[in-house]
Amino acid sequence: MTRIAIVLAAGQGKRMKSKLYKVLHPVCGKPMVSHVLDAVKKASCERAVVIVGHGAEAVQAHLGDAAEYALQAEQLGTGHAVLQAKEQLGEVDGVAVVVCGDTPLVSAETLEALIALHEREGAAATIMTAELESPTGYGRLVRGANGEVLRIVEQKDCTAEEAAIREINTGTYCFDNRKLFAALAQVTNENAQGEYYLTDVIGILQRQGERISAYKTADPAEAIGVNDRVALAEAERLMRRRIAVKHQTNGVTIIDPEHTYIEADVTIGADTIVYPGTVLRGNTSIGENCVIGPSSDLTDTKIGDGSTVRQSVADQAVVGARCSVGPFAYLRPGTKLADQVKVGDFVELKNAVVGEGSKIPHLSYVGDATVGSNVNIGCGAITANYDGYNKSQTVIGDNAFIGSNANLIAPVTIGKGAYVVAGSTITQDVGDNDLAIARERQVNKEGYAEKIRARARAKKERDQ
Ligand code: UD1
Ligand code: CA
Repeated sequence: MTRIAIVLAAGQGKRMKSKLYKVLHPVCGKPMVSHVLDAVKKASCERAVVIVGHGAEAVQAHLGDAAEYALQAEQLGTGHAVLQAKEQLGEVDGVAVVVCGDTPLVSAETLEALIALHEREGAAATIMTAELESPTGYGRLVRGANGEVLRIVEQKDCTAEEAAIREINTGTYCFDNRKLFAALAQVTNENAQGEYYLTDVIGILQRQGERISAYKTADPAEAIGVNDRVALAEAERLMRRRIAVKHQTNGVTIIDPEHTYIEADVTIGADTIVYPGTVLRGNTSIGENCVIGPSSDLTDTKIGDGSTVRQSVADQAVVGARCSVGPFAYLRPGTKLADQVKVGDFVELKNAVVGEGSKIPHLSYVGDATVGSNVNIGCGAITANYDGYNKSQTVIGDNAFIGSNANLIAPVTIGKGAYVVAGSTITQDVGDNDLAIARERQVNKEGYAEKIRARARAKKERDQ
């Protein structure tokens, strides 16, 4: 049977008190509406129509071709929102999955189970419900004497008796598509909020004698609807835990999941150990047998197998296999390390390609540079790549040795196997296997230290 999805995302989200539209607020680094859309796609919905209104352009710009869109120009309620997809979907024979854009923890597995129950029971509507300790704010599921679903009543329309019901509507449903649109036409806005409620469709179908099913999720996390920042933090916490469990199941050791922040799309290979205080963002991908952290912050970065990244920050960097990064290294965009590279403490790299086996162990800046293989860059050596207007390139050949505290003034090329003497300021190219020395020759003055001290002592006495 055809499966389609309708995602409600037109509300402003007043309770967020934000300039950012509610469904674009990220949970574990990904906007809530993207989580929801990913879930319905994974649950094999062939089409997904996102209802947009507030921030329509921003939402569409973010989701792009991943969805179709229907505009709800005025936000008159969730029932009115679904009705906006009538032109696109009204004639489809099949199952419509309706999800709110602010329930980021709804999972594809749960949607599959919901759809399976709906089809098995031949229901006109199936509601995903949850039993909550504190149901405040959610619509309540009203059941009859035999446990059959009668209707959903919104918090603001509840009697005291209904308010005590702890089984809530998660805002995720399956409908027979044609019956959904037929029932929507009968929904009115005579309620406490003066809105056209999607939830009223349940009572309408029930009164017509249609079968209504309910699928109660065992995991109340799936139910969380984010209306304010308190719920946003709760969703973040629950999603973080879920992501950690996914990686743990795949063979990753996370020493302290409560203090490790892994965004939704990060991938990590088996036998990697992630230490606390680590933040892995965006499209970061980490190989097998790595040691990441403590306290590393990686964004859109790729780490090869067997590498170590301790107390370091990386953004759009590529690190090869068996590399050692940190402690306290900063890999900026365009950093590409081949295999077995060492980048040590207080080293910053930007737009720098470093060949296999090279070492930059301490206190260096290497920017806009191509460094060959087996190069050693001594402590404090830097590339001077910027003259205040232009960025210039430094090229260092294979097997070169750059002495400590050397300044390589770009543009400059250091040949293969060349040797730059410590403390040199290099402004001219150095040929292959040449030695470059660019510093004052040393002068030793015998016994002069005592002479200087005597002079200083005398001055101090005079001044007292
Ligand atoms: C809704 C349900 C409630 C359920 C809860 C679960 C209704 C009437 N109530 O309440 O039973 O327990 O979700 O989280 O459906 N939206 C539109 N257009 C509108 C209004 C809302 O697109 O005109 C979108 C919002 O962007 C949001 C979603 O629909 O993503 C839900 O709207 P919201 O106002 O958050 O509904 P709740 O009060 O949470
Ligand atoms: Ca909500």
